[in-house]
Amino acid sequence: MNRRYRKTIIAGNWKMNHTLSETKAFAEALRAVIGRPKWCDVVLCMPYVNLVPAMRQFKDCSVSVGAENCHYASNGAYTGEVSAEMLKDIGVKYVIIGHSERRQHYNETDFTVNKKVKHALEVGLSPIACVGESLEQREMGLTMEVIHYQVKALFAGLPEEKVRHVIVAYEPIWAIGTGRTATAEQAGEGCREIRAVIRQLYGARIARSVTIQYGGSMNTENAYELLAQPDVDGGLIGGASLQVPDFMAIIKAANQTTE
Ligand code: PGA
Repeated sequence: MNRRYRKTIIAGNWKMNHTLSETKAFAEALRAVIGRPKWCDVVLCMPYVNLVPAMRQFKDCSVSVGAENCHYASNGAYTGEVSAEMLKDIGVKYVIIGHSERRQHYNETDFTVNKKVKHALEVGLSPIACVGESLEQREMGLTMEVIHYQVKALFAGLPEEKVRHVIVAYEPIWAIGTGRTATAEQAGEGCREIRAVIRQLYGARIARSVTIQYGGSMNTENAYELLAQPDVDGGLIGGASLQVPDFMAIIKAANQTTE
């Protein structure tokens, strides 16, 4: 990480986990131990139904609450969907976009991801936009190509002044929920490549201001090493964000890692 130019962000992705009462218990337990994380911002992304009460519950623990998806339209006939405007209106700041589980199960494409990122930014949310290769693509030697393609698609048509509000998460699909973490070198290399593409598109000054997270089985054991990579500016954490002690250990690792 490089704190001179960009923020370090540790974000939990709860996916479809934690009921409201579990969320409340989590907030109480976290409040008791979190203190004031000096060197990183902490975000917890969770199911829509719990966002409003969670914002109250996490208010005094320096934790921002985020959503896990949003639609690209402002409103309309999209049964079951939630717009970026609705999230903004209740006070949400962050929204995950294009997570591989959504690409896999809900037909998200690079095209919809781009539309969602643009719309979220217009509304004033910070998108956490996910990219990453499959195991098959890695084994075929296509990792860097996939990263180039997805990052270019994600930023297509995005005005320069919005770029630093985008957080990119490098999440190799084969590492998500599998316990098979990328090595620190692989994570560092993926994040470095993402920044290189942003540099090509927008120049060095903007590229160095973008927060790029690693995600995929980040845990208490490997967090320090992953976060110590110069282009890894935080984590998007699934499984290990569900329990306070694990999540807290990762926040501590981020606080210990110095440039
Ligand atoms: P994981 O999930 O940490 O459980 O691998 C990461 C993610 O899906 O963002």
